[in-house]
Amino acid sequence: MIKIAPSILAADFSKLGEEVREVEAAGADWIHIDVMDGHFVPNISFGAVVMDAIRPLTNLPFDVHLMIENADRYIEDFAKAGADYITVHVEASPHLHRTIQLIRSFGVKPGVVLNPHTPVEAILPILEDIDLVLFMTVNPGFGGQKFIDSVVPKVEQLSKIIRDKGLSIDIEIDGGINEETIIPCAKAGANVFVAGSAIYSKPDRAAALQKIKKAGEE
Ligand code: DX5
Ligand code: ZN
Repeated sequence: MIKIAPSILAADFSKLGEEVREVEAAGADWIHIDVMDGHFVPNISFGAVVMDAIRPLTNLPFDVHLMIENADRYIEDFAKAGADYITVHVEASPHLHRTIQLIRSFGVKPGVVLNPHTPVEAILPILEDIDLVLFMTVNPGFGGQKFIDSVVPKVEQLSKIIRDKGLSIDIEIDGGINEETIIPCAKAGANVFVAGSAIYSKPDRAAALQKIKKAGEE
């Protein structure tokens, strides 16, 4: 089963509530929330207060992608603002095991994110502790970038490891996903797909979302 997680980074912030409701009605499975601090990544987006404001407007799971340093300091805020999943970057988490336990202690499902150059081996020791692995297929910081296809073999590699170990872990892809780039990722074993500009830049969001989902399911 393919899940689509529209990224509100590409939405119109002047009417964020409506933008979330529109993709929910269009068949979105999760809402992807990109939090950027201007330190770990060269851009600043928004924080837990914005998330808190849209939480009452939808029942969809909130998939919170933290692109921040010192994530431990903010996890409680995002948990209280209604996160269902919180993912942290391996590259920004010197005490990754501790961070994962902290996320779980708030009843939130923990996940880890790998930048395009970070090898799968970096997360093997904590694989049994997480619910989700997010592969970046762009360099984090901005929406609307080009998909980096050299990440696909890493997805295949992890997918096989998860199968061999009999684990139940979602594999999510983030960056440059559209109705074409979803295909090799889905074949490689990914099941959750973030799409920002490929949905929100289109006049008919529902058609765009359904087209991407269908391409991933084929
Ligand atoms: C990039 C973010 C992505 C981004 C995806 O740093 O993590 O979630 O919003 O946007 P598109 O789908 O436009 O590449
Ligand atoms: Zn993201």
